[in-house]
Amino acid sequence: MDRIAITGGTPLKGEIAIAGAKNSALKLMVASLLTDQPLELENVPAVADVTALVRILEELGVVATAQAGCMRLDAGSIASTVAPYDLVRKMRASVLVLGPLLARCRQARVSLPGGCAIGTRPVDLHIHGLEALGAEIVLDQGYLVGHARGGLVGADIRFPQVSVGATEHVMMAATLARGVTVLRNVAREPEIVDLARCLVAMGARIEGAGGEAIRIEGVERLGGARHRVIPDRIETGTYIMAAAATDGELELLDTSLDHLGAAVDALERSGVAVEATNRGIRVRRANGRLAAVDAATAPYPGFPTDLQAQMMALMTTARGESHLEENIFENRFMHVPELMRMGADIQVHGGSAIVNGVARLRGAPVMATDLRASVCLVLAGLIAEGETVVNRVYHLDRGYERLVEKLGACGALIERQSGSA
Ligand code: EPZ
Repeated sequence: MDRIAITGGTPLKGEIAIAGAKNSALKLMVASLLTDQPLELENVPAVADVTALVRILEELGVVATAQAGCMRLDAGSIASTVAPYDLVRKMRASVLVLGPLLARCRQARVSLPGGCAIGTRPVDLHIHGLEALGAEIVLDQGYLVGHARGGLVGADIRFPQVSVGATEHVMMAATLARGVTVLRNVAREPEIVDLARCLVAMGARIEGAGGEAIRIEGVERLGGARHRVIPDRIETGTYIMAAAATDGELELLDTSLDHLGAAVDALERSGVAVEATNRGIRVRRANGRLAAVDAATAPYPGFPTDLQAQMMALMTTARGESHLEENIFENRFMHVPELMRMGADIQVHGGSAIVNGVARLRGAPVMATDLRASVCLVLAGLIAEGETVVNRVYHLDRGYERLVEKLGACGALIERQSGSA
């Protein structure tokens, strides 16, 4: 298993090109199942989760070709409606193929993804949403087996809890349902707006994405489209924090502050200066040591859970006491013991962490069990004295395109080493 070795203490200087959003690209790729015409996606990030999803789509009969960030997905004929356990368990988001397969083929057999490191993460909201559209879904040997014999039918659905995946899943399925679907208490993440835009370009009738309710008027068929994936707001936020943490100065290209919601506000309060440029964003510290700030994760436009771990790395050496609250996932503080091994002063009480800023972190061998926790340790390694070795690099590969190269080009002393963990 590869690992990343970092010698901390160098301010990052230079520019980093931000990739397309992983969490948008994955859903857009799934949308290709809704049509027999090719879907062309530009700005698809070269990350392992995308590769994993390509394998699942290929299993279903989709012909995928990719060149320089542009991916062409042709689901002209669906060869299989079964998404097997071995492929689905590698990436939870692949359960989203269920709805599109039901909408187009009226049947599907998709492995239930199971738990993951950041919590149990059920998919009940997805299933209830599809059932409300008339699908019959049963669990058989770990598989969700769905039928929509007469086709899906539009419905008025209020989600009991805001869910990004369930909103996207049911929205996709409803594009081909008979009649009108209204989804209420939906997630409002930029990735949902991006998916809706692409579906509309494919011929879907969708209004209200990004707001509190989404109205979908079902159509008989969808066609092909060409669509550009939005910039990755979480990668953007991660590199903003990397620049600020190391007291460096970075220009982040092909991105903007538009989708960063409450994160920008928290960073500015902490003393991070971010400004829009004509190529993207410039970031540096406003003046000296950062100040501790509080942040509580919430659905968009609140502070994103996917930046909570990185924010904690930043707060480890900020002046004062920071309270960070995790409200989306029940087990998303796995980075805490690892940061403490590097000298951070953190106390966790349930879903809240109190971080007391220390003067410095010290390098250590560390490992994490999910993507954002791993990148948090990379940030900690960039500011720590001495060497930090981050094990289990495959977590980072899932969602950060060429992380070592991007940071290395800005002066970080960082190296990927092959070997066992
Ligand atoms: C998406 O996950 C993202 N993943 C996550 O990104 C992100 O952390 C999350 O949204 C929140 O922003 C992708 O887009 C692929 P949810 P998703 O459904 O859709 C509970 C990353 O690091 N819930 O909004 O799975 C759930 O357990 C990741 O890139 C149910 O109870 O998140 C959680 O507590 C990880 N039943 C809450 O809702 C359900 O049926 C919100 O989850 C569905 C969700």
